[in-house]
Amino acid sequence: MTSTARVVVDEEYSIAEIDPRIYGSFVEHMGRCVYDGLYSPDHPTADADGFRGDVADVVRELGPTILRYPGGNFVSGYDWEDGVGPREDRPERLDLAWRSFESNQVGTDEFLRWCGRVGIEPMMAVNLGSRGIREAVDLLEYCNGRGGTPASDLRRRNGQADPYGVRTWCLGNEMDGPWQIGHKSAEDYGKLAAQTAVAMKRADPGIELVACGTSKPVMPTFATWEAQMLEHCYRHVDYVSMHMYVDPDLYPDTASLLAAGVEIDDYIAAVTASVDYARAAGRHSKPMPLSFDEWNVWYNSRPRDLGDWPHAPRLIEDTYTLADALVLGSFLTSILRASDRVRMACLAQLVNVIAPIRTEPGGGQVWRQPTFYPFALTARYGRGTALRPAVTCPRLSTAAHDDVPQLDVAATRSEDEMVVFVVNRSLAEAASLELDVRVRGHRPGRVEHTVLAGPDPAAVNGPDAPDAVVPVVRDAVALRPGEASVELPPASWSMLRLLP
Ligand code: AHR
Repeated sequence: MTSTARVVVDEEYSIAEIDPRIYGSFVEHMGRCVYDGLYSPDHPTADADGFRGDVADVVRELGPTILRYPGGNFVSGYDWEDGVGPREDRPERLDLAWRSFESNQVGTDEFLRWCGRVGIEPMMAVNLGSRGIREAVDLLEYCNGRGGTPASDLRRRNGQADPYGVRTWCLGNEMDGPWQIGHKSAEDYGKLAAQTAVAMKRADPGIELVACGTSKPVMPTFATWEAQMLEHCYRHVDYVSMHMYVDPDLYPDTASLLAAGVEIDDYIAAVTASVDYARAAGRHSKPMPLSFDEWNVWYNSRPRDLGDWPHAPRLIEDTYTLADALVLGSFLTSILRASDRVRMACLAQLVNVIAPIRTEPGGGQVWRQPTFYPFALTARYGRGTALRPAVTCPRLSTAAHDDVPQLDVAATRSEDEMVVFVVNRSLAEAASLELDVRVRGHRPGRVEHTVLAGPDPAAVNGPDAPDAVVPVVRDAVALRPGEASVELPPASWSMLRLLP
């Protein structure tokens, strides 16, 4: 069955200039994200620092613009000093967040140097769980200080003469969560965040700071957390974080999972409202953008065995399906439509741990999960200005949702092209989409349709079949300049590039 739909995109209906940092990702010392993922000194492609060259190439292809590091829950028990200096002198520690053994063979310098080599901006998090203001300022000085202080001189002695100039810093991680080491009340966290922010900005006024917002929509403290902690730190911070994972096992069926995007939209709207309440209540003139710095699909309710303090265990290495890739596509359309408020976002995580990229150790291979493709293509082509599309399409109801639009659409306009991203949420119905693109001056004449689809929404990629789910480029029918007719398969993600 095929339904009919119409999308009008007018270049004048702009939402915001897109901050390229919405296409970020996340590297945590957890499982095999760092060790046996990015870093594998015995691998034939390893560079002088021990980072895999083949993985770095696939990371470049994925195209994240910023990488959050080193956690996550890990950061709340991390002593950054353990991870700098000669490797043979670094202590081994218990990572209390994930009950793993931390060798500290990768630390701040290795990560920041690797970011420089792959051309990605770092976003550092400071530990406000087991530590506080002094250690946060020391780490900032270690990274950004010009020299002449103990921390910045230590960096120079460790071989890095020039400051790294890290611009973006997270004030802790998920401090609203009782699972977090050093978990705090909103009031205690808000005060500590304010004091740490004042000190860090004195040390380096050029930095931007992210305060911890709510770690998931179901938190009992959601919304009051934002209001209460911002009462103390609003004027000192530049962003509020939000995190969200969609767990496919919590949906009654695949049709319901494919409609999860409406919950993402609702959550962004709710966080925006609670942050705006704090702005109004505190009589603040400055708007507060959001950093959606952990998001993804995560089969989080599945049992996991943390083991007996292993080093780099196989932890939450979720295998993603085509259906999961469509949900990931919906995260991105939601973020683009909210790009006036969401100015940074990080797909959690980058390699192996709930990641678009998977690796095998030894001389093993690297492969791309289905979720890799909507991210890579949106990060590459969804640039410039986010536009507000007018969408006319049938509505669906699922076991978990009433009245959901069949198509989930976002649009962008850069200098050279307009791009429309569409998720067809229907498992049963294709959509015949009429696209009307309004651009003053010239009207695009050619449409390139890239589609990720397939007969089986449960299809996956693996080391033996790395290309089972890959996007294909199809013909779209250009009707007249600026108009096209496109067939969207059921359960599909599409990118429509409107070219001159
Ligand atoms: O990304 C995995 C974990 O999810 C992070 O460590 C934590 O911040 C979140 O709960």
